[in-house]
Amino acid sequence: MPSNKHVSVLQNEAIDGLNLKIDSKVIDMTLGRGGDSSKILEIIKEGHLYACDYDQDALDYSSSILSKIGNNYSLYHSPYSKIIDLLKEEGVDKVDAILLDIGVSSPQFDNPERGFSYRFDGKLDMRMDLSSSFTAYDIVNTYSEKELRDLIFKYGEDRSAPLIAKAIVKRREEKPIETTLDLVDVIKSALPSFILNKKGHPAKQTFQALRYEVNGEIKELEIGLKKGIEFLSSKGRLAIITFNSLEDRIAKNIFKEYTQKEEVNKFLPIDNSLKPLEYRLITRKPIEPSSKELEDNPRSHSAKLRIIERI
Ligand SMILES: C[S@@+](CC[C@H](N)C(=O)[O-])C[C@H]1O[C@@H](n2cnc3c(N)ncnc32)[C@H](O)[C@@H]1O
Repeated sequence: MPSNKHVSVLQNEAIDGLNLKIDSKVIDMTLGRGGDSSKILEIIKEGHLYACDYDQDALDYSSSILSKIGNNYSLYHSPYSKIIDLLKEEGVDKVDAILLDIGVSSPQFDNPERGFSYRFDGKLDMRMDLSSSFTAYDIVNTYSEKELRDLIFKYGEDRSAPLIAKAIVKRREEKPIETTLDLVDVIKSALPSFILNKKGHPAKQTFQALRYEVNGEIKELEIGLKKGIEFLSSKGRLAIITFNSLEDRIAKNIFKEYTQKEEVNKFLPIDNSLKPLEYRLITRKPIEPSSKELEDNPRSHSAKLRIIERI
């Protein structure tokens, strides 16, 4: 039986950074195993928590945990890019804090049946939302060589993408690639020894790219983050925890869009239409896990926390 345990990453830093009050309205866009939501609910005794997840298992599990703390919460089986629209339909017009702790939870990653991990054998699946029908198997066995190459290059940031895409297409001509370890075998067979001997698992980047494609994670991040920022009340804060350079770059650039002054050309007459800035960065540099956290939870190693505030 896979474990339900997920150790929340940068939890104290993120929750302190959200500046919660007893009556805050908060959205947890990535409920997971409810670790962060539980802490939030303990603080906002007179407020309300709205939380969503793609994964029905996560909602069921977290609901049982949260109900022991309070009843001032609502859960949604929804991609986080849509939660704001759902809340608007319910008459909520803004919130005081939003948390995004993106990616997969440990119970998802460590369950071989979910097919997320290159370390355990399982069907090529990688769906966070089990009610959807599009899986990693479909990508690996139906995308053209060019589509695979572009995907692994763009979302896996892997320069070996052409070699890997070619090897996938060649192998599936013999028979479909069914499992995670079949795919790992194809990837290893495609790469020269100097790449195989590098630090890090050779299939890591391809698995990341497939996971992003199956769950639309990059679009989710781009859309969900902007909608979240725009849904904050005055003095409201949004905190996001990312787990690799691609995700962190997207978060950093979106924060920049909202906090950078427009260039003023001093040779032109003063433009009174320039709006004052509506947001400010709380973290100029991202916050990273302490050495104690890294020691206690090695999975936190690539995490970065960024926080923005509506002025
Ligand atoms: C890292 S875990 C969150 C862990 C959580 N903060 C905790 O303390 O237990 C990420 C969760 O977000 C969910 N998720 C990821 N992307 C999502 C999306 N676009 N929409 C909804 N849920 C998403 C995953 O299913 C997973 O349960």
